[in-house]
Amino acid sequence: SRFVSSQLLNTVSKNGKQFSTSAKNKARVAVAGASGGIGQPLSLLLKQSPLVSELSLYDIVHAPGVAADLSHIETKAKVTGYNGNEQMADAFKNVDIVVIPAGVPRKPGMTRDDLFNTNASIVASIVKAVGENSPKAFIAIISNPVNSTVPIAAEVLKKLGVYDPKRLFGVTTLDIVRANTFIAEAKGLDPATTHVPVIGGHSGVTIIPVISQAKPSVSFPQPELDKLTVRIQEAGTEVVKAKAGAGSATLSMAYAGAKFTFSLAKALHGESNVQEISYIESDVVPGVKYFSSPIILGKNGVEKNLGLGTLSDFEKKLLETAIPELQKNIKKGEEFVAKS
Ligand code: NAD
Ligand code: LMR
Repeated sequence: SRFVSSQLLNTVSKNGKQFSTSAKNKARVAVAGASGGIGQPLSLLLKQSPLVSELSLYDIVHAPGVAADLSHIETKAKVTGYNGNEQMADAFKNVDIVVIPAGVPRKPGMTRDDLFNTNASIVASIVKAVGENSPKAFIAIISNPVNSTVPIAAEVLKKLGVYDPKRLFGVTTLDIVRANTFIAEAKGLDPATTHVPVIGGHSGVTIIPVISQAKPSVSFPQPELDKLTVRIQEAGTEVVKAKAGAGSATLSMAYAGAKFTFSLAKALHGESNVQEISYIESDVVPGVKYFSSPIILGKNGVEKNLGLGTLSDFEKKLLETAIPELQKNIKKGEEFVAKS
């Protein structure tokens, strides 16, 4: 079983850093939306990790069942399930990291923004409970539309007087995972050692693949570059269509969410130079208050924003197209909280 566990861990830690397994170096992690398509496999991956000491599973349904099931796995993380509003405060007490995949997913024909009306209030209520019970927790938001749910979370935390922009993250890791996979496939590379930054936001044209900065470096004729760019931007829709009404990406998202959470846990416990890409409050693009770009994580969250780096002319055009859409999505999120 140890072998199986470490195999699984290796698949979610391609950055290759050693995990620290001493007791004090473990994180207490809560998952909100733990019974869902993402929540269950994400919780499984977290339960497998020596980086996690406690796993607090919150949902409006089935959380005790998911918790009972996971609690039989022979790893140290202590698993507790919390069901419904009246148990929400307990779910978020004394936690270091809260990952939020709660909310409805897309069906074919929908945009991520079509989820706003349902998911905005779900995210707002969860973040409020986190702010009230673990105001210093790192909060990682998966629920769509991420471009708006992160500003919603920020405004809710501001109202509570506990907002720290270094501790709030929109999870865009799946875009990078997809870019790594598609570019590696196109060039016959090993996807596990291919690194392709994706910046901007997490929907359609706001997703900006920066293939010019890929490591190892790659180049494509423009028509192929166009196609790969659109495939990365529309990869979520590719899965929504293939699932034909049964939801959106869950397993690849669980992988990506676990990967991001492990980076937060490592940074929290003092590992240096933990690099990720995340949608955060930002000043790297003037007039765009939230933007995803490479960052260095530390004990207190975002330690350094590494910015955009050098973009090709093609990528600069993608950025120009993304800006008004991001601004609109951000404003919509901020106004939702202002009005409520
Ligand atoms: P799902 O419907 O399978 O699961 C959602 C879970 O949230 C359910 O268990 C549901 O009971 C729970 N939930 C609903 N309201 C809640 C509340 N108020 N408090 C706590 N839990 C609540 O959906 P899924 O496929 O897991 O997707 C979840 C979200 O993640 C969607 O919004 C989807 O668009 C988004 N998503 C984001 C990314 C990304 O890259 N950021 C990738 C995939 C999916
Ligand atoms: C994704 O990128 O897979 C998610 O944002 C889900 C979706 O709606 O596409």
